[in-house]
Amino acid sequence: MANKTWLITGTSTGFGRTLATFLAKQSNINLVATARNTKKLAYLNEFDHGQIQKLTLDVTNQQEIKSVVTQAQAKFGTIDVLVNNAGLGYFGTFEESNRDTVKYMFDVNVWGLVDMTRSVLPVMRQQKSGIIINFSSLAGLYSFPTLSFYSGTKYAIEGISEALSKEVTDCNIKVMLVEPSGFRTDWAGRSSDKALPKIADYQQFKQTIIDNAESAHHEPGDPEKAVQIIFDQVVNHTAELPLRLPLGKLSTDTAIDKYTKSLAHFKKLHDLSASADQPE
Ligand SMILES: NC(=O)c1ccc[n+]([C@@H]2O[C@H](COP(=O)([O-])OP(=O)(O)OC[C@H]3O[C@@H](n4cnc5c(N)ncnc54)[C@H](OP(=O)(O)O)[C@@H]3O)[C@@H](O)[C@H]2O)c1
Repeated sequence: MANKTWLITGTSTGFGRTLATFLAKQSNINLVATARNTKKLAYLNEFDHGQIQKLTLDVTNQQEIKSVVTQAQAKFGTIDVLVNNAGLGYFGTFEESNRDTVKYMFDVNVWGLVDMTRSVLPVMRQQKSGIIINFSSLAGLYSFPTLSFYSGTKYAIEGISEALSKEVTDCNIKVMLVEPSGFRTDWAGRSSDKALPKIADYQQFKQTIIDNAESAHHEPGDPEKAVQIIFDQVVNHTAELPLRLPLGKLSTDTAIDKYTKSLAHFKKLHDLSASADQPE
């Protein structure tokens, strides 16, 4: 059987690096590992037997996106799995968040993922197969104070991915959203800007932001276990690949609690909501 080609964004640290390392150890996989700075991919050198391609990619750079897709296709012929992993965080209250920083986070988390996916889709449609893995978050299911805009990026990709998955079903392309709770990566530390509240009314959230920053690299989630679960879903459960894959106890518990309460809420409002329609 031909090798499957995986293309991953943001493989310098965290989930991306852990997944790239895991895939580099598999004999039947071609790996396109991308990063803003490919010097950060030296960790892959020990595994390289000609099946690894290391490419420069800032997901906000359209030229680099096009170039990566062209080079990956030229080297390996196919792109079977696209992993949109690159992402940033931002902690701050809604009112005090820095507009430019937040807009840049949308450029990376939403438009980077969109542009990558749009560039790879023609390849996958031509192949009549493909899997797109989009890194969402528990924050894409549930919106916490001080994470309004980060959640905004993840809710955006949840909505985009859900419709996309329906549009590409007949092309034999599947989409999976990964929704982790806290995992030990660089996300809560260097990858998330923090705006401590200055307004007196929001002082209660100062400690929330400090606690989150201090939790960096002490989170309960283990990226190696996450990567094994993702790989197993893609390789062994392809036919029934879930659209949503919560990872970590907090993520799955929060999702169940939220949807249980939501179900009761929407049932309670059912007749009132339906009464807004024109009479048939
Ligand atoms: N860790 C968690 O608790 C958690 C929970 C839920 C969701 N997530 C999501 O998981 C994904 C991966 O994050 P992580 O946890 O592994 O954090 P991480 O260790 O900080 O990794 C983030 C990666 O994104 C890359 N990146 C940032 N901006 C980029 C850009 N413009 N172009 C290309 N790459 C860029 C970083 O590259 P540089 O080295 O160049 O900065 C780095 O490789 C993100 O989408 C994040 O939102 C994480």
